[in-house]
Amino acid sequence: MILLLTSDPRDDPEAADAGTADWLAHLEEAMPEETIHTVWTDYDPGDIDIAVIVQPPPGSLAHLPNLVWIHSLWAGVETILADETIPPDIPIVRLQDPHMADTIAEAAAMHVLALHRQMPGYRALQNEHTWKDLGYAETSETRVGILGLGLMGSAAARVLAMLGFAVMGWSTTPKNIDGVESFVGESGLADMAAKTDILVNLLPLTPATERIMSSGLFDRLPTGARIVNLGRGPHVDDDDLLGALDTGRVAHASLDVFWEEPLPADHPFWDHPLITITPHVAAPTGRLTGSRIVADNVRRYRAEGIIPEAVDRRLAY
Ligand code: NAP
Ligand code: GLV
Repeated sequence: MILLLTSDPRDDPEAADAGTADWLAHLEEAMPEETIHTVWTDYDPGDIDIAVIVQPPPGSLAHLPNLVWIHSLWAGVETILADETIPPDIPIVRLQDPHMADTIAEAAAMHVLALHRQMPGYRALQNEHTWKDLGYAETSETRVGILGLGLMGSAAARVLAMLGFAVMGWSTTPKNIDGVESFVGESGLADMAAKTDILVNLLPLTPATERIMSSGLFDRLPTGARIVNLGRGPHVDDDDLLGALDTGRVAHASLDVFWEEPLPADHPFWDHPLITITPHVAAPTGRLTGSRIVADNVRRYRAEGIIPEAVDRRLAY
């Protein structure tokens, strides 16, 4: 039997319950043959072999003695990987949804186009009732560097290349994507950063990528580069970012994700004139597509005993 555990948004229990109910309805429709339990139903913990989850608090799965595998309804699984109550031999399968990749590509295009077309500058001018042309550059003159060329990063890279930007991407292994220059390794990151006008982060959060966007990287960017963080908050060193905005090394930061979410009301990012904030909305999981992917994976497991490819715990993604 399946246990569905969803806990977002954590700050709003009513919305969280509505989220659970909506997920339950979609999952039941996608796999009517399955019994799906939630925190609201009575179940014997020993009957649960699959947990379908959205970022549950640590320890939420510790009471399931016969759990065989976990399916995340999010792409990023750093929270569940950090839960020490989950035995290391339990496979954690992350959601790999091409529809979500299209959605994040849309968000990346939106942020990059807004920066390329100087929307933060025009917003500031509008606030002063000032009519001023900030100039125009061709997309081909704007170089976009993407950190991470996985399902999300490669979708963003393709759309940005289609829009005419000069696109580069950094990953662990080299990639061959039409119109996208591939960089790997520490020296590759330095080379890419040196010619990046807009840096877009779509890395998973791992020990190797935490605080990757800090002074060390900002100092390699051309003066006045812009950054877009769609990965996770801890990819950015907040103090270093504020420092880089002060010196003009970084001219603007568009941030979707934060160390603490919701972003605390007194956080200095809120009122910063050079920061654009969105509340972790770059690519919400599509309930319909996500449920269908989970249902296909569960059915294959029930029929053939095959658990989908799990996250590599050594790499943490
Ligand atoms: P993915 O398919 O696993 O891709 C990860 C990419 O990062 C791969 O290209 C990988 O390189 C690269 N990478 C990982 N560690 C690296 C390192 N140390 N150095 C260089 N490259 C490294 O993951 P995904 O599905 O694209 O998702 C990426 C992240 O996007 C998620 O983990 C999540 O944090 C974020 N996300 C955010 C939202 C939002 O709404 N803001 C929505 C969905 C996802 P290789 O390809 O060579 O392995
Ligand atoms: C959302 O941030 C996800 O990782 O799916």
